[in-house]
Amino acid sequence: MPIHCLNQSWILETKNMGYALGINSQGVFTHAYWGKRLPKVEDYPTPPQAEKWASFNNAAHLTPEEFPTWQGMKFTEPSLMLNFSDGVRDCWLTFVSFDTQDLDFPTLCLHFKDEHYPLNVDLYYQIHEEEDLIERWATVTNSGLEPISLSRLFSACWNLPPGDQYHLSHLTGRWNDEMHLHREKLTQGLKVIESRRLTTSHHHNPWFAIDEGDATEEDGKVWFGVLAWSGNWKLTAEVTDFASTRVHIGWNDWDFAWTLKAGETLSTPRALGGFSEHGFGAASRALHDHVRNRLLPHGKIEHPVLYNSWEATTFDVNERSQSELAEIAAEIGVELFVVDDGWFHGRNDDSAGLGDWWPDEKKFPQGLSPLIHKVNDLDMQFGLWIEPEMVNPDSDLYRAHPDWVIHFPTRPRSESRNQLILNLAKKEVRAYLFEVLDKLLRENDIRFIKWDMNRNVSEAGWSDAPGDPREVWVRYVEGLYQLWGELRQKHPQVMWQSCSGGGGRADFGILRLVDQIWVSDNTEACARLSIQHGFSQLFPANTMEAWVTDAGKDLLSLEFRFHVSMCGVLGIGAHLAHWNKVERQEAAKHIAVYKIIRPIILFGDQYRLIPANQGGLTAVQYVSKDKSESVLFAFRAHLPDPVNLPKVFPRGLDANGLYELEGHPQVRSGAAWMEDGLPLTLGNFQSMLRIFKKIK
Ligand code: GLA
Repeated sequence: MPIHCLNQSWILETKNMGYALGINSQGVFTHAYWGKRLPKVEDYPTPPQAEKWASFNNAAHLTPEEFPTWQGMKFTEPSLMLNFSDGVRDCWLTFVSFDTQDLDFPTLCLHFKDEHYPLNVDLYYQIHEEEDLIERWATVTNSGLEPISLSRLFSACWNLPPGDQYHLSHLTGRWNDEMHLHREKLTQGLKVIESRRLTTSHHHNPWFAIDEGDATEEDGKVWFGVLAWSGNWKLTAEVTDFASTRVHIGWNDWDFAWTLKAGETLSTPRALGGFSEHGFGAASRALHDHVRNRLLPHGKIEHPVLYNSWEATTFDVNERSQSELAEIAAEIGVELFVVDDGWFHGRNDDSAGLGDWWPDEKKFPQGLSPLIHKVNDLDMQFGLWIEPEMVNPDSDLYRAHPDWVIHFPTRPRSESRNQLILNLAKKEVRAYLFEVLDKLLRENDIRFIKWDMNRNVSEAGWSDAPGDPREVWVRYVEGLYQLWGELRQKHPQVMWQSCSGGGGRADFGILRLVDQIWVSDNTEACARLSIQHGFSQLFPANTMEAWVTDAGKDLLSLEFRFHVSMCGVLGIGAHLAHWNKVERQEAAKHIAVYKIIRPIILFGDQYRLIPANQGGLTAVQYVSKDKSESVLFAFRAHLPDPVNLPKVFPRGLDANGLYELEGHPQVRSGAAWMEDGLPLTLGNFQSMLRIFKKIK
């Protein structure tokens, strides 16, 4: 059992990680240890306690708490803030009891209650032994009669070992340029990253990795975590004046409010935390395994090579234009043909149609069936784009239900891309969307849906809300999960993709519903390298849809563009009708190679050999779990000549195994390939793909 229960203290162990917590002799729920697993249970430190240091620095200020509330002489960040009905906002939790539960995985549950008020708080710690991760969440229950208002409820507080020397890695970006990896030293005070946009956002991602300033891809201690939530979230990294560092993660408390009525319970989203003593690479691989083993609805299935017509035909879709593209797509080896925006009622540009999810009568007079049959006859599956959360004011739906959108009645409704957001917190909105989408899926053989969301929220009002209208931030996302979950359950054959104008909704919450993420609307292969590098910090390759398009084609060869997209789930988004015979033949060759190496890329261990954010050269490698095969890609963007390119050193091979490398005369041991490396002979904007095969 990975949970050891001692006297009011607990040791949680995974394969390589140990985590200790407990109630100290002052009754405070404290954090004792997070790091490498120690040889014996007795090795772990006992719950720490602090003495008051001066009238300005109370003991509570100095003690690392697992779930601090706002209470007493405490000026550091609390996990929970609330207001009892009599106006008291001080919350004193005392430990009541604990139990261990088997909620699919071993789980420790600690029960607390307020000393005076009928408030219960349960804190959960679920152990993922194999993946070296702990999953945490909290539930808060009002066991009395008067309502309790919550103004903050985070999922977890992660305390780092004592010290203030840490560096924070995180992702930032914007539309068309997501997922850039940043690393900076944390200094005294609070570093906040967050989303206030109703989605996870293109701008930041609820992921962190903390190191001591010396970690690399392969070495060094890294503490890391994610939040599984697709709406507003907040991460605070706090360094106190007493050299302690902790990270809070959870729902954003910005404009957050929740009224807990008599008998009600509220549960936070899940937060995952892990520790690696082998650098950032191992941290990413732990998260990749977790996503593939535990989250994805269809688990480890080999995603088909898809074609998406958006960049080719934009809104100008009809049976003829799509049939023409489908024929070429089939010829080059595509397995799934996806029609993007523009297929539904009244949709000729972005000014109308959203909300009316049935085929446009002019573009598809016979409905979608003839095109779907055509695609199926070409031996491809059929997929479709939808954006269900949105409505154009110029649509039948909006004309019938203008009150269904998120808005403040006395304020203008800001449109973005001519659209407004349907309030998915409302039951009737979800019921309408279920009905219309269920019908679409029942009447058509659709195997793939790209679910998009192309704007962020404004005027976040909910005038007929049954409770506090600010609950919309959480209830919207819960409504989204519910609607999507019901559709998924009813149509298990459908593979879903999460898109929000590119990578605006990429998170571990949505990955319980979808198998893929559309990472960025930016499909220019060089730009993509850095975006994919950031994405790979937490997401595995089998969740990353990547298209070969015409973007950058004057500079970047088809081979380079293919190699970049082959690092994930390969798709084609170019205007195939404009490709000549030679280009189509070359594409067919790359697709055929991809189909052979696809399982290694999608399900293998990923090694970022030369990180993409460190200059013009980058290399990434995938190794099958049994180490029998490996694929290595290297890319050179622009580097002024003359230049001596460094060797690239593969990783993850079986040191004692013998490997041959395609195109290389010498058979060598895994150790030799890893120690001596491979020379890189790449000109500007050239790429290379090499396949290792273990022969003994
Ligand atoms: C978003 C998506 C694109 C495309 C368009 C269609 O921008 O990210 O891939 O689907 O919408 O309107």
